[in-house]
Amino acid sequence: MSLYEMRQSYRLGSLLEKDADADPMVQFHTWLGQAIEGDLPEWVEANAMTLSTCDPNGNVSSRVVLLKGLDDGKFWFYTNYDSAKGQQMEANANVSLCFLWQHVQRQVRIEGHVEKASRERSISYFHKRPRDSQLGAIVSQQSSVVASRESLEKQLDTLKTQYADGEIPCPENWGGYCVTPTTIEFWQGRESRLHDRLRYRREGSQWVIQRLSP
Ligand SMILES: Cc1cc2nc3c(=O)[nH]c(=O)nc-3n(C[C@H](O)[C@H](O)[C@H](O)COP(=O)(O)O)c2cc1C
Repeated sequence: MSLYEMRQSYRLGSLLEKDADADPMVQFHTWLGQAIEGDLPEWVEANAMTLSTCDPNGNVSSRVVLLKGLDDGKFWFYTNYDSAKGQQMEANANVSLCFLWQHVQRQVRIEGHVEKASRERSISYFHKRPRDSQLGAIVSQQSSVVASRESLEKQLDTLKTQYADGEIPCPENWGGYCVTPTTIEFWQGRESRLHDRLRYRREGSQWVIQRLSP
């Protein structure tokens, strides 16, 4: 393997000012739609996004989560409130999201602030998940050290018996977050590394669009 010889040509599209919607959420919908259309391999998860959070000392960490909603001009996802990321977001609401859609040679970067979803919304989404995922959320004290894989599986088995039927309660420490964007940048790979980058920046009630150098 020689990393320095690995490179792709980007020729699949362009993003020109005349084609970009004035509203970045509309533009995002369009690009997300294009990222999931067609005959894609099953492993493509176009709603996967890298969430970066930062603690009060400036230590940054990133991980992938799944986008589960786009309403109200916000990006919604679900997780464990006591997890490492949950603790960071509690202390510092500034976050970034990054989508990579390699099959269309696109990236979208979002910066903004995060808030918890209402308990009603979290419970409603929790019950839409498969039962096994609901039980997994109860078992997982996300980000904490565990003794072994076996101990997790044992707890899951116990819960499966306990909740053989009937509603599984949504844990208090599990729920949604939404990110209100302040900047959204759309990146389309182009030839000769002259990529298109359009950045939308919130100014009052307006979105200002600027082209950035690749
Ligand atoms: C494709 C993919 C999707 C994921 N989706 C979620 C998600 O929606 N919510 C979540 O809490 N973790 C999700 N994870 C796991 C996180 O990346 C991470 O391991 C976990 O949330 C713990 O992160 P933390 O310790 O920084 O809090 C996903 C991981 C991958 C690879």
